[in-house]
Amino acid sequence: MGVVADAEHATITGRRGASGSPDVRFLIDEECTLAADASTLKIVGGTPLRGEVTVRGAKNLVPKAMVAALLGSTPSRLRNVPDVLDVDVVSSLLELHRVSIDRTDGEVTMDPGSVTSAEPSRLNVLAGSSRIPILMCGPLLHRLGKAFIPDLGGCRIGDRPIDFHLDALRQMGATVDKEPEGLYLSAPEGGLRGTKIELNFPSVGATEQVLLSAVLANGITELRNAAVEPEIMDLISVLQKMGALITVHSNRVLRIEGVDKLYGYDHTAIPDRLEAASWACAALATKGDITVLGAEQPSMLTFLNVFRKVGGQFEVNDGGDGKPRSIRFWHPGGALSAMALETDVAPGFQTDWQQPLVVALSQADGLSIVHETVYENRLGFTDALNKMGAHIQVYRECLGGSTCRFNQSGYLHSAVISGPAKLHGAELVIPDLRGGFSYLIAALAAEGESTVHGLELIYRGYEGFSAKLRGLGANFTAA
Ligand code: UD1
Repeated sequence: MGVVADAEHATITGRRGASGSPDVRFLIDEECTLAADASTLKIVGGTPLRGEVTVRGAKNLVPKAMVAALLGSTPSRLRNVPDVLDVDVVSSLLELHRVSIDRTDGEVTMDPGSVTSAEPSRLNVLAGSSRIPILMCGPLLHRLGKAFIPDLGGCRIGDRPIDFHLDALRQMGATVDKEPEGLYLSAPEGGLRGTKIELNFPSVGATEQVLLSAVLANGITELRNAAVEPEIMDLISVLQKMGALITVHSNRVLRIEGVDKLYGYDHTAIPDRLEAASWACAALATKGDITVLGAEQPSMLTFLNVFRKVGGQFEVNDGGDGKPRSIRFWHPGGALSAMALETDVAPGFQTDWQQPLVVALSQADGLSIVHETVYENRLGFTDALNKMGAHIQVYRECLGGSTCRFNQSGYLHSAVISGPAKLHGAELVIPDLRGGFSYLIAALAAEGESTVHGLELIYRGYEGFSAKLRGLGANFTAA
């Protein structure tokens, strides 16, 4: 893809991302007939998607594992790496800190032997492109005693603060200065110190921040109310391979005994359960049949239960027959069932599964309720679905069961979906990564033509999605 950076240069060429993210130029896979630079697609819906797609390593693990490589005294190798924009951004960040990167298809090796500080002005080229830079704090404080972190990006699905991250770093002894261009951090004399930390909410990013900072800290860190998403467990596996001592207790408690030195790792990233679920929802909403090669059952148990309750069918191939692991998802015909669900931290129903599923629920018979409890503002995409003919009403109240921290806060975080609705084509502007993929699903399920703008955001997390769509029989052209 088009992010180009080395220790001397950092340029990102092309057009400005829809979210105000940096300029991005897209080079699309060879098999794909799309013109390079396509930011808008014209999609003719109504054809069931059928066929196979492959998912590779999880977008929510790979960039973090790449940051972890900074902690090693020898080179690391990560396998099953997808070609998505977030990986480009982290590669650039590491190269700007003089980590030597060698990237071939699906594999990246990182040699952190000559790590050095990067010029803030050069790092700022990457400002706004991803939330990953904040995770560089701990590793840079260990390696260099100081860190500069450019302004963050990521999807606009809520305020997405970093207070938990900064509080944890301060508790470990770091000082943090906020300046308009970004954050300047310094390690205390003698390095970061282990301590007891309790998160107000089991934040994925803050848990990763603590892990990446505590593994080389002096003494023991106890993290309470930690997130335990599969991608975090895989990051713990990476760190353990490097020499870290991390114990996972019950009740969301992690105990990290700081060690003096870590080494490089060789690791194969877990498959992307979020992308796999997106394709599953595409199969359901378009009345299709999609086999997701590379998908694995253990990290998708909760999703698979919901998929089955809505009326979808699936078949798991765990690789026992010598064929690649896969899950086949299909619409069996007949009516889908409405249901009530709420998003939650793992092992609950992942918030990133919510948006694609809502499109499928718009086709279910009756009233469905979705209560979003992780992000305060992840239902805005339903306006566009309503424009296409869906019947979705959003509410400030906690609907469907438990009360979450957004109760009485004024955020529209519950939805009632009345189906089945006949969707028709519309002009759509992609708001965020998962919301954007749901628009694609809706456009593919709708009658008539839709124009979808702002594909830049989808390239952040869906590898070669247009080629995959083409392979499934989707009817679209670049506009
Ligand atoms: C990660 C995932 C994202 C997923 C989310 C929840 C990546 C790159 N992204 O995002 O796909 O949807 O986990 O599973 O891995 N919060 C605070 N203060 C903080 C940090 C978080 O209040 O300092 C709040 C957030 O506003 C949000 C909630 O905690 O409401 C969860 O956020 P968090 O788990 O940190 O999400 P990310 O790590 O950003």
